[in-house]
Amino acid sequence: MSDKLTMALTKGRILKETLPLLARAGIVPVEDVLSSRKLIFNTNHRDLRLIIIRGTDVPTYVRLGAADLGVVGKDILLEQGAEGLYEPLDLGIARCRLMTAGPVGWKGSGARIRVASKFANITKRYFAEQGMHADVIKLYGAMELAPLMDLADLIVDIVDTGGTLRANGMEPLEEIASISSRLVVNKAAMRMQYAPLQEIINQITEVVEGG
Ligand code: PRP
Repeated sequence: MSDKLTMALTKGRILKETLPLLARAGIVPVEDVLSSRKLIFNTNHRDLRLIIIRGTDVPTYVRLGAADLGVVGKDILLEQGAEGLYEPLDLGIARCRLMTAGPVGWKGSGARIRVASKFANITKRYFAEQGMHADVIKLYGAMELAPLMDLADLIVDIVDTGGTLRANGMEPLEEIASISSRLVVNKAAMRMQYAPLQEIINQITEVVEGG
């Protein structure tokens, strides 16, 4: 076991925006994270290392204390719940919208619809709030395909530029939530390692608030 603090970063698009933000906060990995297949990286910060994992796994690592803090999309926090986590800071990166979307011109009929999404909990909750019953079809990617193949009527997915929807004959409908990446911290670590964690949080906060 290492006595360093461990920060879990979400790989992919969020990572590309996280690394420059951390660099501005003075936290720089000692190797090039984006071109490496490694999963653990030391940083110039003696007491901090990074692990690079899927966003859906970040809350698990941080909640269970395998990582002390992490960077993860609000979409994943809304879907999984934030139990056991502090969410001290909106990093303001990887901004996008979580939306319902359907084939262009789609007109719903009846109170029962099929909705494909990897955000099954958010989807159930959202349609229940609208007084509708949604049969949620859990998928793991390429949600836009589901209405085209008549697997579902609508989808709930992340919309950034809207290009993926347009390219597949679909259009955004309702916004469910505005999404950005958040800093999350293990609650027990926040008590046990308060000083070093708070120092890192402060460094990042200064950058975020400085714009
Ligand atoms: C997301 C989302 C859409 C796409 C939207 O997928 O699921 O497919 O981005 O972006 P756009 O509005 O700019 O077209 P992502 O590329 O993050 O991959 P994923 O399948 O891992 O979600």
